[in-house]
Amino acid sequence: MSFRVDLAVVSEQKQFCRFGLTVHNLSDQDIHNWSLTFVIDRFISPDSVTNAALSQVGSFCTLEPNNTHLKANAHFYCEFSITTAPLRFYTDGIKDAFIQFNNSNARHPVVVTPIVLASPYKERTHITPVDAATLNIIPKPNQYEIYDGQYTLSNDSQITLQASGAEEAANWLQQELSSLFDFKMKPIGKGDILYRTNPTLDEGEYQLIVDRFGVRLEAGSASGFVHASATLLQALTRCAEPNQLTIPYLKIVDSPRFKYRGMMLDCSRHFHPVERVKRLINNLAHYKFNTFHWHLTDDEGWRIEIKAFPELTQVGSTRSVDSPLVPQFSTISEEYSGFYSQAEIKQVVAYAEQRGITIIPEIDVPGHCRAAIKSLPHLLVDDEDHSQYRSIQNYNDNVLSPALPGTYLFLDKVLEEVAELFPSKWVHIGADEVPSGVWEESQKCQALMQEHGYSDTKELQGHLLRYAEKKLRSLGKRMVGWEEAQHGDKVSKDTVIYSWLSEEAALKCAKQGFDVILQPGQYTYLDMAQDYAPEEPGVDWANVIPLEHAYRYEPLAELDDQDPIKKRVLGIQCALWCEIVNNQQRMDYMIFPRLTAIAEACWTQNTQRNWEDYLSRLKGHLSLLNKQGINYRSPWK
Ligand code: ACM
Repeated sequence: MSFRVDLAVVSEQKQFCRFGLTVHNLSDQDIHNWSLTFVIDRFISPDSVTNAALSQVGSFCTLEPNNTHLKANAHFYCEFSITTAPLRFYTDGIKDAFIQFNNSNARHPVVVTPIVLASPYKERTHITPVDAATLNIIPKPNQYEIYDGQYTLSNDSQITLQASGAEEAANWLQQELSSLFDFKMKPIGKGDILYRTNPTLDEGEYQLIVDRFGVRLEAGSASGFVHASATLLQALTRCAEPNQLTIPYLKIVDSPRFKYRGMMLDCSRHFHPVERVKRLINNLAHYKFNTFHWHLTDDEGWRIEIKAFPELTQVGSTRSVDSPLVPQFSTISEEYSGFYSQAEIKQVVAYAEQRGITIIPEIDVPGHCRAAIKSLPHLLVDDEDHSQYRSIQNYNDNVLSPALPGTYLFLDKVLEEVAELFPSKWVHIGADEVPSGVWEESQKCQALMQEHGYSDTKELQGHLLRYAEKKLRSLGKRMVGWEEAQHGDKVSKDTVIYSWLSEEAALKCAKQGFDVILQPGQYTYLDMAQDYAPEEPGVDWANVIPLEHAYRYEPLAELDDQDPIKKRVLGIQCALWCEIVNNQQRMDYMIFPRLTAIAEACWTQNTQRNWEDYLSRLKGHLSLLNKQGINYRSPWK
C-alpha cells in the first residue's frame, strides 16, 4: 500500500457539509506534479477547495494541489464543501481513486478508507420473528382455500395442454421445476398437470386447483397461465423421496389488482450483461410482474445498438480517461464498457415474452443525453449555445437542443429502430430532470421560441416531446414518460405519466386526464438504503426504505377507493438506479426482498394485505431464494 486517501466530515448543517480530505504518500519516494482522481457523486463547490484546484465531471473529480510536491511518508490535506444534505452511508463516500505523478500517465492505485461520518444513523429497524406460513405464496392470492390432503408429483407426472397460449408457461414451469427443485418431468403429453383454457378469465387472471386427480391450471390468457405456473412453483415442497414434490389440495381464484406491474432497471450507469437482465426478468415472472422497463440510455452510457448511428455504441458505451466519456462511479482506472446488440435485445424480448413480461424500452431525452451528444457532436451540439446549467448529476453538456435539425434526425432514426425492435405498444421517452438555465443563451432556441410564441424554455421541452409523441404515434406506439413529460404543456393526454419525485404529479396529472404509473421514490426506489445504518449500501435522498415501509405502500392512500381519479392509476412500478450497483451480489441485495413487498402492492387487493402475514410467507419463501443463490438482505438480521 503506497497511497491512501481519507475523507472525513468536518462540519455539517442541513444543506451544507464541509469535508477534510487527506492524501497519504506511504511510499519511500517523494512525488511531484501529482494529482488525485476520485469519484464522489455529489457536487463539490469548486471555490470551496483549499490548497488545491478541483475539476468535476459528473462523479469524476480531479484534484490538483497547489504544492506539487509530496514527500515520502508525508501527507497532503485540503478541505471542501458540498451544499447537499449530510452524508449518512459509507457508500456516500469516495468510491474509487487513483493518483498520477512525475509527469507520467501511469495510474497508481489508492486505498480509500471508509468515510468518517459526522452523524451516522444509529437506529436499526427491528422485524419481529415469525413462523413460516404453511402456504408461502407471494404476492398473496386474492382468493384461496386449502383443503385436507396433498397431491404428489412424481416421475410419472406429465403436463397436458388443453389450451391455446399455455405452451410457453408450461415450458417455463418445466424449466423452473428442474432448476429450483431438480425435478425432471417427461415431455409434454398426457398427464396429471393440466393447462386448460377458461374463457371466463380475463387477462392475467388464473385459477389453480389441486385435488386427488392432480393439478389444474386455468386461464384465458398467456399471462394468466404464467401467473398460475408461478403460484404452483411457490406452493410446492420437495419430499425426502427423490423426484417427488407435494402440494396441498387447494383452490386459488386469483386476479391482479393493477393492470400494470413493473420494474425499471438502469443499465446505463452500470452495464448489466444479458444474463443478469434475464435473471431479473425471470425473478419478475415469479412475482407476477408483467412489465420490465429497460432504461437503456443516460448521461453515462448508451447501451442499445442503433444501426443508423454506430457511433452511439462505438463512443457512447465506453467510459475511460482517454474517451469522450470519462469514468464514473467505479473502476475508474480501467476502461468500462458494454452495450446490447440488436440480436441480444431480440433474445431478451423473446425471453421476457415467454414469461408474460412486456419490455418497455426507455430512450431518455432531452436531458440525460450526454452519451448521445458525445457520440454524435456533428448532429447534437450547438456551438453557439452559451447557456450555463448544471444537471442534478453535475453535467453542463447533457441536453439535446430542440432547435437543431440534427436532434430530430437523431430522434427519428433512434425511435424507428426502437419501435421495430420492441413489440411493446409503449415507448418511454424519459423527459426527467432537464436542468434550469438550459437553452437560454442559444440564439437558435430563442428564435424557435419567438417563431412559436413560447415564453418559457419549458415549452421548448414540450415542443420536442410533442414531436417525439407524433413520431411514435406514426410508428404505432404510445409515448410514455416521467412526470416532467407534461412540462411545457404540449404532449397529448395519450401520454402516460410516470410520477417519481412523489405522488403529487400523478395526482395532478390524473386530475387532468392522464393515465399514470406510480413509482414514488419514497417507497419504490430500490437504490434507497434499507436501514438506518451507515454500512447499508444505498442512498436516501427520497427516503430510507426498510422492508416494512416498502410493503406498506398504498397508492394515493388519501383518496377514497371509489374516487374516480383512482381509475387513472394503471399501476405501480419499482426501480433500481445503478450508480452503486455494478455486480450481481449488490443487485440482489438491493432488490430482495423488497421486490416481493412491492409485488404484493401491485397484485393483492389492499383488504387482503397484512404485514405480519406477508412476513410469515416471506419466511417460508426464503428457501426458494436460497435455491437460486440470491443474495437477499435477510429481514431477520
Ligand atoms: C428519475 O428518477 N430521474 C426518473
